[in-house]
Amino acid sequence: MENVTALNHPLIEHKLSILRNKHTGTKLFREVVSEIGAYLIYEAMRDVELEQTTVETPLETITMGTLNEDNYAFAPIMRAGMGMLDGVLKVIPNAKIAHVGMYRDETTFEPVNYFFKAPEDIGNREVIILDPMLATGGSACDAIDLFKKKGVEKIRFICLIAAPEGLKKVTTEHPDVPIVCAHIDDHLNENCYIVPGLGDAGDRIFGTK
Ligand code: PRP
Ligand code: URA
Repeated sequence: MENVTALNHPLIEHKLSILRNKHTGTKLFREVVSEIGAYLIYEAMRDVELEQTTVETPLETITMGTLNEDNYAFAPIMRAGMGMLDGVLKVIPNAKIAHVGMYRDETTFEPVNYFFKAPEDIGNREVIILDPMLATGGSACDAIDLFKKKGVEKIRFICLIAAPEGLKKVTTEHPDVPIVCAHIDDHLNENCYIVPGLGDAGDRIFGTK
């Protein structure tokens, strides 16, 4: 699928095996979600534009690219996206944060937006949306819409596990938004859960069930 990248690496597979294991406890689950978040952001920023800066090394002066971290905002979709925030902030620590509160209605599986708080200058920033799970794609599409309405021109989406159904929806509705995931799973079940998946990411990160 165009504009979709899945990290294809044995160490990522190893980390995902920890998350998929139903016996993995909250502490380890949270740590690994955050760690994979950092790997995803590296890949998602592969095409980023750097500013050319003069740097004096101990040996000579060179011109090289640096990232203007003030141009970026991370946007975790609550709750589960919060689990990725620590990891991505280790890589781009000066990015601002935009919180998007969203939950899926249990019967319709449609997303319900209950909170939105973004930096005042969000329209001038590139936004990287964080959510471990892309299932039907409804939450991702609505979150992307929210930022487009605020004037954001460049949006990226990173997730741990994506379902083919959701990828199809997001890439059709928002072909301009690149998606980087750790893995593309097989399908959605009758409750719109990703199979094989890892269960309910929010509950496993926050220990609510
Ligand atoms: C999960 C997940 C996504 C959404 C994905 O959140 O973190 O936001 O479902 O599903 P979709 O692609 O079908 O929209 P959930 O609604 O369970 O809320 P939570 O993070 O508060 O548990
Ligand atoms: N949300 C989750 O947390 N897991 C799924 O499999 C689907 C939606």
